[in-house]
Amino acid sequence: MKIDLPFHKSWLGKEEHLEVEDTLNSGWLTTGPKTKKFEEAFSDYIGCKHAIALNSCTAGLHLALEAQGFPEGDEVITTSMTFPATANVILLQKMKPVLVDIEPGTLLIDPNKIEEKITPRTRAIIPVHYSGHPCDMDAINAIAKKYNLLVIEDGAHALETKYKGNKVGNMGNTTSFSFYANKNITTGEGGMVVTNDDELAEKLLVMRLQGISRDAWKRYGKAGYTHWEQKMAGHKCNMSDINASIGIHQLKKVDSFLKLRQKYVAMYDRGLADVPEIEILTRHEDIEHAYHIYVVALNLEQLTVDRDGFLDAMQGSGIGVAVHYIALHLQPFYIENFNTKPQDYPIASNYSERILTLPLYPKMSEADVNRVIDTVRALIKKFRR
Ligand SMILES: Cc1ncc(COP(=O)(O)O)c(C=O)c1O
Repeated sequence: MKIDLPFHKSWLGKEEHLEVEDTLNSGWLTTGPKTKKFEEAFSDYIGCKHAIALNSCTAGLHLALEAQGFPEGDEVITTSMTFPATANVILLQKMKPVLVDIEPGTLLIDPNKIEEKITPRTRAIIPVHYSGHPCDMDAINAIAKKYNLLVIEDGAHALETKYKGNKVGNMGNTTSFSFYANKNITTGEGGMVVTNDDELAEKLLVMRLQGISRDAWKRYGKAGYTHWEQKMAGHKCNMSDINASIGIHQLKKVDSFLKLRQKYVAMYDRGLADVPEIEILTRHEDIEHAYHIYVVALNLEQLTVDRDGFLDAMQGSGIGVAVHYIALHLQPFYIENFNTKPQDYPIASNYSERILTLPLYPKMSEADVNRVIDTVRALIKKFRR
């Protein structure tokens, strides 16, 4: 059957279309005034000093780590329950990703399992605010302080997230956000790295565009032609004004989008609460959730179907679903290169076999949400032992 209720659909209005058109007509397509405007609005929204627009969240994580110049072979701690991007940036720095198992219920990195992984070569922790729920930042920051580690937050899911009243983006050394097509706001492809560290922000700006700086003219003391100077070997990961044009208007809708997702999450919670074969993820108190994805875990021992069979049945009913994630230690790359075993990360291994993500986005209607709930309930009934 054709999927007629897709896993995600972006909400783009006339404002985005007109802004992109304006940019196209302006003749200035690359990083320029629209990117600056988006960066300013974004740092206002997060409540941080610096926001640097990039072509992905991955780039933000990469620049943040590379900026530190850690020695090759040193170690960075992160969760196994994440997208490859989080740990790829560690590998690309020729450092070693040290994976930590997750906490049952939230699927967030388990802070009680971090310290046992720390060695004299550990340099940083990359917490991932999985699904939009913040990690236990008090515990993580306390460990980081004790062992003098950097905290580089992966906020790809966590644009609106707050932890004990603090907005994600103000608790670590840097935080990176994603504007990939299915994220809470999108620029098609795009990302933002934020920090409150002035010197680091300056460095990240230079790193995002070939390591070149336009400050040279200041030193020559003239206001005429602006020479650029290369300061280091940099990347090419700046955001274009075309993408920023979309972002400017998406950001204005962030609260209204969140409200709709909150409403749909409440509908899912209510609609699935009395199904014992379904585990709804836990939410801690004193947090504000970004509700990026709605993940449920199947209690497989009560069902005659496995997770993949359930995914097929959902898609067979015309509803798009996904899996976030099959943990990194179960991926062929980690098995081949780090000899990882399922039993090394028992909680993440267990959830990797049981989780699926239901559609959750503002463009859905209440009728769509009800259809997903009815379909899940009908399939559970069909496959009940
Ligand atoms: C947890 C996590 N980290 C990082 C990324 C990378 O984001 P981007 O595609 O913007 O580089 C993603 C993307 O989906 C993600 O889910």
